[in-house]
Amino acid sequence: MSGYTPIRILPGEGIEVLDQTLLPREERYLRLDTVAGVAEAIRSLRVRGAPLLGVTGACGMAIAGEERGVGPEALARAAAELKATRPTAVDLGAMIDEALGAVAADGEEERRAALWEFAERALARQRERDAALARHGRELPGLEGAVLTHCNTGGLATGGEGTALAVIAEAWRAGRIERCYATETRPLLQGARLTMWELGALGIPGTLLPDTAAASLIASGQVSAVITGADRIAANGDGANKVGTYGLAAVAARHGVPFYLAAPLSTFDANTPSGEAIPIEFRGEDEVGGFGDDRWSPDGGGVYNPAFDVTPAELIAGIVCESGVLRPPYGPAIAALTAQNVDR
Ligand code: MRU
Repeated sequence: MSGYTPIRILPGEGIEVLDQTLLPREERYLRLDTVAGVAEAIRSLRVRGAPLLGVTGACGMAIAGEERGVGPEALARAAAELKATRPTAVDLGAMIDEALGAVAADGEEERRAALWEFAERALARQRERDAALARHGRELPGLEGAVLTHCNTGGLATGGEGTALAVIAEAWRAGRIERCYATETRPLLQGARLTMWELGALGIPGTLLPDTAAASLIASGQVSAVITGADRIAANGDGANKVGTYGLAAVAARHGVPFYLAAPLSTFDANTPSGEAIPIEFRGEDEVGGFGDDRWSPDGGGVYNPAFDVTPAELIAGIVCESGVLRPPYGPAIAALTAQNVDR
């Protein structure tokens, strides 16, 4: 981490989250102590990134215990409300289910405490996983000179070091990488606002480009690899990530540039056979027709605004996780690793 943390857990009270919609102009923490508040923060992308959504979901369940009690019905209702906020990242629903499984104790107090302990453990575990993942990824072939990434996959997205950005940071510290190109990531500009901010904090030279310039950048031979995070990796290795990732992978394949995914095992979903079954979140018109209060498109024109797309496994040269680097064919390796991964 570089002096900031996207989430602070205050057991028995609530959480504080760094409002990522305000970055990089303002670093403001929001105090959340209701399920509705947590759901709003997730839906509005004040907290975001698959692993951080998982941790926030676990915190949301601990908050539910304080606000609504630890009875099975109250917790099940809170779980459903939180899960409904963002469907694509598997971490959110999986960690909420895991939190529910952690409240096996008898007494009310014990059950509340168990939910907070689980939330704290989830964050600590994420930090360990990020560190291991980054170490495995730094020697990836092609991670030399300049690399390209998409969206935001640093500490802001996980609560630890990050996923793809943590790999880039390790490779940069090892002297392998000199520059990171970051797409702006329309419509919500996670690349321009968050990745460029994190690259600055890490001291890594960054170059921002419009999403529409990525294909010609790859074709020009100026990047030696493309690496992104993922929100859900299906059993066959198809990976959902921020919309635009599929296009980057397709263009990278066309030009012989390796395309990698970096994600913890919590993002693998052995129950989803292939990318076709991954639920894709669609978002509103307001995000495409303008930004914040600034509108530039006539109202009512209709938009196509998927938040994610799916990259077929055949375009992915490797998937880095905390257990190492997976190579195609991914199915058998994913089956073996997710079967072992009882503790998500
Ligand atoms: O919509 P977002 O900002 O939550 O999307 C985030 C991404 O797509 C990330 O690449 C992904 O969650 C991996 S985070 C380490």
